[in-house]
Amino acid sequence: MRPSSGSILRMISSCQIATPAKSGKKGAFFWFLGCAFVSIHLENILFIPLTKAESMSEKMTGRLSGKVALITGAGSGLGRAMALLFAREGAKIIATDINEKNAQSVAQEIGDKALFLFQDVTDEARWESVISEACAHFGGLDILVNNAGIGGMGSVESTSTRDWRRMHEVDLDSVFFGCRAAMPALRQSKSASIINISSIAGILADGNMASYCSSKAAVRHLTKSVGLHCARNRYPVRCNSLHPAFIDTAILDDVIPGMPRDVLLQKLAKGNPMGRVGDPMDVAYAALFLASDEAKFINASELLIDGGLSAQ
Ligand SMILES: NC(=O)c1ccc[n+]([C@@H]2O[C@H](COP(=O)([O-])OP(=O)(O)OC[C@H]3O[C@@H](n4cnc5c(N)ncnc54)[C@H](O)[C@@H]3O)[C@@H](O)[C@H]2O)c1
Repeated sequence: MRPSSGSILRMISSCQIATPAKSGKKGAFFWFLGCAFVSIHLENILFIPLTKAESMSEKMTGRLSGKVALITGAGSGLGRAMALLFAREGAKIIATDINEKNAQSVAQEIGDKALFLFQDVTDEARWESVISEACAHFGGLDILVNNAGIGGMGSVESTSTRDWRRMHEVDLDSVFFGCRAAMPALRQSKSASIINISSIAGILADGNMASYCSSKAAVRHLTKSVGLHCARNRYPVRCNSLHPAFIDTAILDDVIPGMPRDVLLQKLAKGNPMGRVGDPMDVAYAALFLASDEAKFINASELLIDGGLSAQ
């Protein structure tokens, strides 16, 4: 049975009274006994506040309170998970997507603290108006997550020029447009963070993902360039990239078209040291850390969310 915190406190204070110096040999024995009891139950003593903290994490803890975050591709998968988590942690959310229905419903789920804006991230001019509308609505911008993206398979021989260009437009050019368009607003922030969603494919190549690997590797290096530019100019803006392995989202539909979902997930899980694919929340929690001021000295860096895949 776990002792109550009150009885532990009483136990500690009785130990302090019964010190060997004050009570002789008999006192030393009880003092020793008391210390032994406290050390045996130390885990319990520490466990009481931890349990409370853990249950609080299900609620809002305000890690992003006062911040405004723009998340692209917020209607589905990782974007949706980040939007909901960031909102729970106190951020105001601008949820953008080409899929109006999905992103609108994410914004509705969050409520007053969210604004949906239609945005095709490959549209350079639209970036300018999205940033202006976001700043006008919430009074500024502190976090940009360049998340919207597409997947696609194909080797150097089987990829058409059209598909190659489309992949780079959506997965790479958009990140450049986003960083550039948001910079004036982010520079006005006290402490801003850009998070670019790259992929493990930006670090480990695959022979059948030529255009995806190319665009995600470029995002990784672009991120470092942006981060260094901000640091050297003393902007209050950090820029980092995230590199997830396979995560269970709609994007996996392109990996082996036609394969039943459960079979595909089992197949992908076998290739990971942890024996599973990732969950969108695995990525959302990493993004939350980078978005928060807890990561204030982390810049031009990359964080792998791959269950150890790349360590082999
Ligand atoms: N799921 C994975 O296994 C995985 C792994 C590594 C990296 N990623 C990256 O994570 C990001 C999010 O992907 P996801 O897994 O959540 O996939 P998803 O398909 O669930 O979500 C992608 C979202 O981006 C939006 N989008 C696509 N093209 C767009 C455009 N031109 N303009 C605006 N929005 C657009 C889609 O409508 C969708 O809501 C992508 O950049 C992807 O490359 C995913």
